[in-house]
Amino acid sequence: MTSTAQQPLNSGFGAASTAEEVIKGIDLTGKVAIVTGGYSGIGLETARVLHGAGAHIVVPARDVERARTALAVLPGTEVEHMDLLDPASIDAFAEKFLASGRPLHLLVNNAGIMATPLARDARGYEAQFAANHLGHFQLTTKLWPALVAAQGARVVVLSSRGIRFAGIDFDDVQFEHRKYEPFLAYGQSKTANALFAVEVDRRGQAQGIRAFAVHPGLIVDTGLVKHIDPAALQAAGALDSEGKPIRDPERQLKTVQQGAATSVWCATNPQLDGLGGVYCENVDISPLVAPENEAAWAGGDTTPGVLSRAVDPEAAARLWEVSEQLVTA
Ligand SMILES: NC(=O)c1ccc[n+]([C@@H]2O[C@H](COP(=O)([O-])OP(=O)(O)OC[C@H]3O[C@@H](n4cnc5c(N)ncnc54)[C@H](OP(=O)(O)O)[C@@H]3O)[C@@H](O)[C@H]2O)c1
Repeated sequence: MTSTAQQPLNSGFGAASTAEEVIKGIDLTGKVAIVTGGYSGIGLETARVLHGAGAHIVVPARDVERARTALAVLPGTEVEHMDLLDPASIDAFAEKFLASGRPLHLLVNNAGIMATPLARDARGYEAQFAANHLGHFQLTTKLWPALVAAQGARVVVLSSRGIRFAGIDFDDVQFEHRKYEPFLAYGQSKTANALFAVEVDRRGQAQGIRAFAVHPGLIVDTGLVKHIDPAALQAAGALDSEGKPIRDPERQLKTVQQGAATSVWCATNPQLDGLGGVYCENVDISPLVAPENEAAWAGGDTTPGVLSRAVDPEAAARLWEVSEQLVTA
């Protein structure tokens, strides 16, 4: 799959569509879905809507008690401990799931952190890259046999328009030799998420696994913005003078229900049968940003699109190799 697959389908949905609207008519009875971070924000809404369509939901959580409380409204939902910054907990979660013998039809790699001050995990890895990408890399590769067993699995990876802040610096992924910038690290991790979907799809296709990257929009009322000064969100036009979210889906400013729509579409919609390895937003495949427009787009243009560096198959293959080395080091 190459970036030439970045062609909108004219899905019939749009920026204002909600996850509830997108799932209409789709029956997920008998399907098993794992949603990381499925106890807050976009992930909780994704879990709620997949559950409503009949899927059995499993949520790995670093705060099990909070997850159980948030998910009490979704009867039968399983909550297990897992911290994406703790490789042993990822292995333990995946091994327990594999031991249950169940196929995994839908894996939504949704959990994430944004623009945190510099932090490192126990291996010394930069926390945004480690949690947002490496943790999900380890989780997905460990769960691979269950995805294969589903005979038609989909993997959805939450990326972001934050891809505009940075590509992957393969010479210094961990910010050991350059100045740490919270949004540069977020951008690198979200470009990694997009590239990961490309390579999961390439490797998985023959085994029935298809993968999609998602930009959900800008949703300011989730837990993600806890490290952002509200004044900056006001200056960016995302909050009004009273600090309330401004909604304008065509300019990215969405509700949680709208934010979860593209994840749900990528996880379930038959329009995407036979496709994969693509970056999606506004419930459609994003167009590739033309090379001559990349600088303007990266500078804050809000039209839909994806930068070529975030869907570059060579970078995706290289990132997989680097990630493999990092998780086994
Ligand atoms: N909101 C937006 O505008 C926006 C825009 C673009 C992309 N996204 C992406 O969408 C995804 C969901 O974000 P959200 O806005 O819904 O934020 P959120 O409400 O903060 O949800 C993130 C979830 O990830 C979990 N998480 C964070 N670190 C973890 C770790 N080390 N191990 C396990 N779980 C961890 C959080 O758990 P805790 O609550 O325990 O920390 C939380 O449940 C993220 O990948 C984000 O990058 C969001």
